[in-house]
Amino acid sequence: MTTPTIELKPSSTPVSAAEREAVLASPGFGRHFTDHMVTIRWTEGRGWHDGQLVPYGPLSLDPATTVLHYAQEIFEGLKAYRQPDGSVALFRPEANARRFQASARRMAMPELPVETFLAACDELVRQDIDWVPAHGGEESLYLRPFMIATETGLGVKPANEYLFIVIASPAGAYFPGGVKPVSIWLSEDRVRAVPGGMGDAKTGGNYAASLLAQAEAAAKGCDQVAYLDAVEHKWVEELGGMNLYFVYGDKIVTPELTGSLLAGITRDSLLSVARDLGYTAEEGRVSIDQWQTDSANGTLTEVFACGTAAVITPVGTVKSARGEWVQSAGSPGEVTMKLRDALLDVQRGVAADPHGWMHRL
Ligand code: PLP
Ligand code: COI
Repeated sequence: MTTPTIELKPSSTPVSAAEREAVLASPGFGRHFTDHMVTIRWTEGRGWHDGQLVPYGPLSLDPATTVLHYAQEIFEGLKAYRQPDGSVALFRPEANARRFQASARRMAMPELPVETFLAACDELVRQDIDWVPAHGGEESLYLRPFMIATETGLGVKPANEYLFIVIASPAGAYFPGGVKPVSIWLSEDRVRAVPGGMGDAKTGGNYAASLLAQAEAAAKGCDQVAYLDAVEHKWVEELGGMNLYFVYGDKIVTPELTGSLLAGITRDSLLSVARDLGYTAEEGRVSIDQWQTDSANGTLTEVFACGTAAVITPVGTVKSARGEWVQSAGSPGEVTMKLRDALLDVQRGVAADPHGWMHRL
């Protein structure tokens, strides 16, 4: 695989320090973008080429560009955190790079070398380092690497040209309201991803497939949808953009990877963080019946969602066609908060990093 260099063409008109500080005071999620982006092209027969860091701005695409019609697209999400000494470190970017390659294989797209993925993220953060929020809070710089098919034409086939881009966005809490339990609509009919279909690929189509259920959940007063497996409609999989954990006293259980739920990096990290803290942490199967029964009999003590954007978010009210119940009396549970603090402490550089997860610039 070719590994292109990234040519720096910085903006001559970055936003002013005052405007940037105003954004950083209350970034929200995915609303503001930094001054630059990295772009790298791939062409059949030539491989990866034309790596550039350029001013953030619109793309110009022919209306017949294949991604607009057949959705050959993949993306990633990862965060850069300001460390106590003012430096910046990314959380497990190699894991995102490898998942990006897995998504590319599933979507018949070229694999970006891990070192190119890392170089693109590092270069963008280095250039826009003033956009990384200050150390101390929960804010971070969210990186969104993605790849689209850019061949022009309406034939249905893998494209012969692609564009890889990384953009960055300062991020506060994903859910307005901070660490407040989210309410869940447990969907027994609509499914998100199918094993053998696009499955666990992190591709836009899997998110498009979730939007109607998400809108229906919102109409029922719920923040998020929990999906069951697409075959038996029985086993709990994940939310539209987060994995799930079930807390049974000192034991935490997360749905095992079935080929249709996303192999979350936060999910994987928490298996280790929980064991480091002395909890038992397992992957297993949790049915919708078990979720309801164990909540009612009190053995299921807490449920939380986890992901890069959402960090760790407690689950409060659960609504489904079979009734409604409340986890953890509607307030964040003790285990949820311990795990959350332990993970954030590693990311913010105030705790040891025994697994070597932080990638310093
Ligand atoms: N599940 C889905 C569908 C997601 O979009 C995400 C977010 O990336 C996750 C789970 C959590 O994955 P990660 O922890 O790697 O961000
Ligand atoms: C992430 O957590 O990075 C995600 O991709 C989830 C979401 C914003 C779609």
